[in-house]
Amino acid sequence: MPTSIDNPMTPEAPARGLRCRRQLPDCIVGHAPRFEQTLEKIHRVSTTDASVLITGETGTGKELVARAIHRRSQRSSHAMVSANLAALPKELVASELFGHEAGAFTGAVQRRIGRFEAANASTLFLDEVGELPLSVQVALLRALQEGEFERIGSNQTRAADVRVIAATNRNLEEAIEDGLFRSDLFYRLAVFPIHLPPLRERREDIPGLANHFLAQAAEGLARDFSGIDAESMARLTEYSWPGNIRELQNVIEHSAILSDGGILHVQPMLLPTRVIPLTVASSLSDALGAGERRLIEQALEESKGRVFGPTGAATRLGIPPSTLESKIKRHRINKHQFRTSAA
Ligand SMILES: Nc1ncnc2c1ncn2[C@@H]1O[C@H](COP(=O)(O)OP(=O)(O)OP(=O)(O)O)[C@@H](O)[C@H]1O
Ligand SMILES: [Mg+2]
Repeated sequence: MPTSIDNPMTPEAPARGLRCRRQLPDCIVGHAPRFEQTLEKIHRVSTTDASVLITGETGTGKELVARAIHRRSQRSSHAMVSANLAALPKELVASELFGHEAGAFTGAVQRRIGRFEAANASTLFLDEVGELPLSVQVALLRALQEGEFERIGSNQTRAADVRVIAATNRNLEEAIEDGLFRSDLFYRLAVFPIHLPPLRERREDIPGLANHFLAQAAEGLARDFSGIDAESMARLTEYSWPGNIRELQNVIEHSAILSDGGILHVQPMLLPTRVIPLTVASSLSDALGAGERRLIEQALEESKGRVFGPTGAATRLGIPPSTLESKIKRHRINKHQFRTSAA
């Protein structure tokens, strides 16, 4: 039974470790041992004012976790304020964070309050914090340490009581070595680090997540689903998920839209046979293995599951059929699934 963090704002205030009974948009699903530790950390840090740094690949749930921490904190009666530092032009970051006075720079027609000030008594979520320009890092460090800052174009020092949660899919230690990120700011942000593992390292959670997203889709589409067929589930569990949980959510939603209800079937073509980039694989051999697997699956798809013969997958790949057979076994590919996926 998957453990999860429920939304503490719901009337039946859930105790920790409760499973998501309703399909709340921000309920966290997961019971893989590696993920249990993460849930435990989220519970512990929520009620403190410590800065949290959430790291993980794209789509691993960083924003979801930031929201969960804020909702469970004493600051939850105020809305969390977010700033996505990758989405802002570099020259505007300082004024977005700290605000400006009218006439502070060209285009600054009116006085504007920054996100830091807007987050007073609440939480500021700094998304993609690795993109923060060096020039603004000093000001942010001071704001975090002293709770003090100035609007651009003003020399009046202001104070705000802000709890910061930052997220990044960038390796900040490397950015520090490259001189792109200040180590003092890193230590200030990472008082409590939380790493979200990629989905391929917590495959035990795939069925629970898939069913969770199916229930969500069923509600949205007002359609009844009784589950996911075993073959589709096996395929979901084996796939490498370079886009992590977001990609899984999209695949389930897409399949649910294509289906009339009942048992959900996930078409193999929704799990694209592409070579995963090395940056999302944990090692070169992982990337090569995943690449080999994709090529084999593609060839089997084209040959409708046939290994032998002039149009068989082995000929297409230019390797002996016996070699292909052993590779199929090693990658635990179900070649029979391609017989029906001829469309
Ligand atoms: N453990 C989980 N349980 C249920 N849903 C999840 C879980 N983790 C992530 N999701 C869902 O997956 C989607 C992607 O999550 P989120 O936006 O938090 O990822 P992210 O790490 O911020 O990605 P990016 O780096 O691309 O911004 C969201 O719809 C989120 O609700
Ligand atoms: Mg995000």
